Amino acid sequence: MEVKDAVEIRRSVRSYRDEKVPRTIIKDIMESVRMAPSASNRQDWKFVIVDEETVKDQLYKAANEQSFVREAPVVIAGVATEPEEMMSCGVKAGTVDLSIALDHLTLRAAEEGLGTCWIGAFDQDKTREILEIPEDHKVISLMPLGYPKYDLTREDKKRKKLEKIISYNNF
Ligand SMILES: Cc1cc2nc3c(=O)[nH]c(=O)nc-3n(C[C@H](O)[C@H](O)[C@H](O)COP(=O)(O)O)c2cc1C
Repeated sequence: MEVKDAVEIRRSVRSYRDEKVPRTIIKDIMESVRMAPSASNRQDWKFVIVDEETVKDQLYKAANEQSFVREAPVVIAGVATEPEEMMSCGVKAGTVDLSIALDHLTLRAAEEGLGTCWIGAFDQDKTREILEIPEDHKVISLMPLGYPKYDLTREDKKRKKLEKIISYNNF
């Protein structure tokens, strides 16, 4: 599959089949995550892969009880281990780095016929506690992963028109 196709079929999946994702596939996807770029190539990140029902259930509660968080066979927490590290441009490197890495995850998952969904609505402290993540680290996103109940298709996505979001040479 070409990158363009993966971008087109990836969408937020909020309904998952009751089917395990083989660890070999998860590992393969995580290899693509590992290859993501990061500021100064620091790779200040860790990915906690959750496939135990009891832990997923706790994450579901910490994530506003969004039902698909426990429905998905796997939930991956993307953790910035140096979340306060600032780039000279005034942007926190960890947030950018984790976002790139997790986007690799979403696209590779799509290529494997798997669904994902970014989860930003979760309680940071509770999530850290559940996953035993040190207090000075930050969970950037939770990411359910699993086989979608409905096939990924190329339906139109609601997006702003290109002319509205790009300009050449000045703002
Ligand atoms: C940083 C971020 C946080 C998000 N948090 C949630 C969330 O907590 N729950 C949810 O259902 N969707 C969440 N989404 C999914 C967005 O609603 C979705 O990406 C957007 O509506 C575009 O739809 P698409 O992903 O199907 O293309 C989040 C997306 C991003 C990028």
